Amino acid sequence: MNLHIFRTNDDLNEAAAGLFASQLRVKPASVFGLATGSTPIGIYDKLAEWHSAGRVSFARAYSFNLDEYVGLPHHHPESYLRFMEEKLFSRIDMPESHRHIPDGNAESLDEECRRYDELMEDYQTDIQLLGLGHNGHIGFNEPDKSLRSGTHVVELKEDTRRANARFFPSLEEVPTSAVTMGIATIMKAKTILLVVRGADKAEIVHRALTGPITTDCPASLLQVHPSLVVMLDSEAGRLFA
Ligand code: F6R
Repeated sequence: MNLHIFRTNDDLNEAAAGLFASQLRVKPASVFGLATGSTPIGIYDKLAEWHSAGRVSFARAYSFNLDEYVGLPHHHPESYLRFMEEKLFSRIDMPESHRHIPDGNAESLDEECRRYDELMEDYQTDIQLLGLGHNGHIGFNEPDKSLRSGTHVVELKEDTRRANARFFPSLEEVPTSAVTMGIATIMKAKTILLVVRGADKAEIVHRALTGPITTDCPASLLQVHPSLVVMLDSEAGRLFA
């Protein structure tokens, strides 16, 4: 594991975006696994800024998002499709046909999960960007007695819905389920970049990276990944000092 703790969030964003930029320089047709939520926003801002300054191009790159809520209309302000459009895709040059997000409105969600897995079989993710849930989830792989390997539908835990309620008018409006990439798909990425910010995640990130490897904390499985890069702000990194 390669652990970095940054003094400022800007330094963190710069380093994380730098990893994407170096990857693109080496391989313009890179495949990125992308995340939503508040964690990646500053990194996407940096990449958009560098793109408009002519420093990076995604013209030949591909992306696969980790997850999507079930049942939110595509145009809903909190759908991950809309999030990605606003925060990244409308600001860079990745062709629309290269961008992939599971469809949480598919008529058959089981078929959609199969379709997403089959599609991903033709690609090898170069960098998988991950945020971390307060309960140790990655993607929407929630703590449980067992974890699923491929893309699947998951019922969101109450604490996850509560954490995400900050983006919705009320808790009742937070979807109760989501489609998520499974653990095996995430672990297949050549490099995993785990980014964690904020004092409220100091304990869980410390437990995930130094505690027992257990399905009670899905992120703990990352300990066995051969190329794990962890970037923390100083608050999230407090317990590593
Ligand atoms: C988002 C995702 C989630 C988030 C996690 C942290 O696509 O898969 O695992 O990364 O819930 O969310 P934030 O960044 O909002 O704290």
